[in-house]
Amino acid sequence: MTAPHPRAAIILAAGQGTRMKSPLPKVLHPVGARAMLDHAIDAAEALGCERIVVVVGSHSPEVRAHVEKRLGADSIAVQDPPLGTGHAVRAAEAVLGDFVGHVVVTYGDVPLLKAADIEPVFAEAPEGVHEGVTVIGFEARDPGAYGRLILDDDDLLAITEAKEASAEVLAVTACNSGVMAAPVGLLFDLLAEVTNDNAKSEYYLTDVVELARKRGAPTRAVFAAEDSVMGVNAQSELAQAEALFQKAQREHFLAAGVTMSAPDTVHFAWDTQVGAGTTIEPFVVFGPGAKVAEGARIRSFSHVEGARIATGAEVGPYARLRPGADLGEGVKIGNFVEVKNVRMDAGAKANHLAYLGDGHVGAKANIGAGTIFCNYDGFFKHRTTVGEGAFVGSNSSLVAPVTIGAGTMVGSGSVVTRDVAPGDLALGRAEQTTKPGWAARFMETMRAKKAAKSQ
Ligand code: UD1
Ligand code: MG
Repeated sequence: MTAPHPRAAIILAAGQGTRMKSPLPKVLHPVGARAMLDHAIDAAEALGCERIVVVVGSHSPEVRAHVEKRLGADSIAVQDPPLGTGHAVRAAEAVLGDFVGHVVVTYGDVPLLKAADIEPVFAEAPEGVHEGVTVIGFEARDPGAYGRLILDDDDLLAITEAKEASAEVLAVTACNSGVMAAPVGLLFDLLAEVTNDNAKSEYYLTDVVELARKRGAPTRAVFAAEDSVMGVNAQSELAQAEALFQKAQREHFLAAGVTMSAPDTVHFAWDTQVGAGTTIEPFVVFGPGAKVAEGARIRSFSHVEGARIATGAEVGPYARLRPGADLGEGVKIGNFVEVKNVRMDAGAKANHLAYLGDGHVGAKANIGAGTIFCNYDGFFKHRTTVGEGAFVGSNSSLVAPVTIGAGTMVGSGSVVTRDVAPGDLALGRAEQTTKPGWAARFMETMRAKKAAKSQ
């Protein structure tokens, strides 16, 4: 195989996205807990694109800031005002004009399109490296407003926008996904010839197909599945994209040996990792950054984000693991326990109703029901350290910064404000007093009062 030509990507994201009816710019809406635009950038990176340019509108500074943070200012082209897809691609010329190689144009609102779906646009034509224009088409269940591909066997003759199409052309079900690839010089040359003399008075990217043919450059379509090229324009389509994304993730994890009795109720993020032999019970939700090893168990109604879970650990039901929760082998986190930024060594347990934030719990330590790591003083966060094998009695408040040594015990209901040395018992609560017979006398008096009143 010859080395592939250098590749670049132009991602269009300058549309207004008004149909989303959302203050958040459309391309920043998430699918699988990742912005749609990041999915598009991921695909371009996975294709090996050396240069990636995102075309943004001046109406959405958030999109610009997002791209600047991930790719740098060199990757931004501004289109203002937006005058069509062809005009949008031309806006990238100033940034990409010096590039030599092939460029692929994709959209920032097509979150399910993967590098593997796009790769065929770069495939060599029988006569060698493809030196013409390639588009990704798909068979549409409902072709609606999509551009229609006018094909002659493998040759793509033209793309006709629905607004310009005759009844005969509207009957065509082969549609344009919007993805197009060409040598960068050819694409910009052709775009310079595109006019806005059409029904929408826009500069159509799709016009380059006919213009290429006029020059004798080859033009072709390669096909992808309709679901993978779906675009998001409204909230209902965002939900539909999410459903397709989740379906693919569930199938992926089932195939990888994860046990789920009700996979349709489990929600994954784009980067969730789960090892084989792990069981995920119904109604578990993963936020980004969750890494679950092999042979763990996540019980129902748990929420797991930015957390690591080792082999043999058991989480939930009704547990919340937040970023930095790091559970060692065999750790048990039970119902209504929240863990944030705490490492729990092997065999440690917090079985009921606790908040463990910012700290370290040693191996086999037992955190009683209702224990709180008081980590925040209103200004700063502080750490709590619980030593190996310590036993923290129920309903204790450990006021950080504080260290409970190895093998210590904390009496139930304690407020611990000072360090406890290994092996010691800490009691931080009022001493109990008992008044013999007091309750019996009190109840007797009250019963008598009540009886007198109700007569
Ligand atoms: C486009 C295609 C159509 C294809 C369809 C697939 C053209 C002329 N038509 O139509 O053949 O079937 O996509 O969904 O290309 N954008 C900009 N600047 C602009 C206009 C658009 O950045 O000035 C971006 C949008 O944000 C969007 C993408 O380009 O991500 C497509 O624009 P849209 O207006 O939705 O094009 P369609 O009319 O749907
Ligand atoms: Mg569209």
